[in-house]
Amino acid sequence: MEDKKILFSAIQPSGILTIGNYLGALRNFKKLQDDYNSVFSIADLHTLTVKQDPAILRKNTYELAALYIACGIDPEQSIVFAQSHVSAHAELTWILNTVCYPGELSRMTQFKDKSLKHEDNINMGLMDYPVLMAADILLYQTELVPIGADQKQHLELARDLAIRFNNRFGETFKVPEGYIGKSAARVMSLAEPERKMSKSDANLNAFISMDDEPQTIIKKFKRAVTDSDNKIIFSPEKPGISNLLSIYCAFTDKTFEQAEIEFEGKGYGDFKVAVGEVVASVIEPIRQEKNRLLTDKAYLDEVLKNGAERAERLAYRTLNKVYKKVGLVLRKR
Ligand code: TYM
Repeated sequence: MEDKKILFSAIQPSGILTIGNYLGALRNFKKLQDDYNSVFSIADLHTLTVKQDPAILRKNTYELAALYIACGIDPEQSIVFAQSHVSAHAELTWILNTVCYPGELSRMTQFKDKSLKHEDNINMGLMDYPVLMAADILLYQTELVPIGADQKQHLELARDLAIRFNNRFGETFKVPEGYIGKSAARVMSLAEPERKMSKSDANLNAFISMDDEPQTIIKKFKRAVTDSDNKIIFSPEKPGISNLLSIYCAFTDKTFEQAEIEFEGKGYGDFKVAVGEVVASVIEPIRQEKNRLLTDKAYLDEVLKNGAERAERLAYRTLNKVYKKVGLVLRKR
């Protein structure tokens, strides 16, 4: 690999992704991949922390591999792999568990939210999830982690664990920085704009999936919840319209001021159709390319195999260093 800083990020294959995942993460992966040695993982082990249908999880894993590539990630240049294919992730999680305190994990906002949502399955994995995420990041001596705003607290924990480990055992891990995009770092639900847009929302009209066809996208935006005063301006008092403006600006690279001027004097109806059309024009070619890639499983298997081999080499370099630092006898090969 060239002598560039390392970038790592991952996405869970827990369903068909939304434009929240696209704007908060995927599109930044593509923007940044040339400037870094980039490692993109499919966080399949994370996905097991809530109940999954095994066949659907397998399907979603291929979906995500295809989507990464369809969004412009070049698997020759960057590393694309499944987290479960590189066992160092689970191994480093164990070591990091020994420097992480339960109080740090029970305080995590996402753990609290998910515990409420999955009351019947508050398992150890759900609580330990941020430690696995820290292991993902720290294994690669990562310097930059592009994420949406909802993952910021987890990144802070990764930094804390790196610093704590380094203080106790000597310099071992790079302390990573987060990269949270300036626009649309938190895309909100179209049905309840106070809540994050999420791929696991039971209300299908609340999110735009990366698999939605243009007509569906436009229909969903037409139904998006807004207020009644019909003015297209960005304001905390107008969470629905503000969310649509953020989406519009992120997809068109326009500023809020430019968009407000463009739609001055127009009604919500016109604006919603314009947002839908812009989103559909970006998503549709990605959807088609993803579906084309999905017909070639052999290619996707090859990408994942190659990615895992390259990731493994980097990961075990760090893991061996960690094992040595904590006093484990390294296995002779
Ligand atoms: P996940 O799979 O929930 O989401 C993947 C990425 O999409 C971002 N995102 C959003 N951004 C803007 N608006 C939204 N509504 C929205 N919803 C999701 C997330 O912030 C994330 O960047 N734990 C992670 C996956 C992970 C990871 C890692 C990330 C595992 N290991 C190491 C970075 C580094 C997760 O569940 O993301």
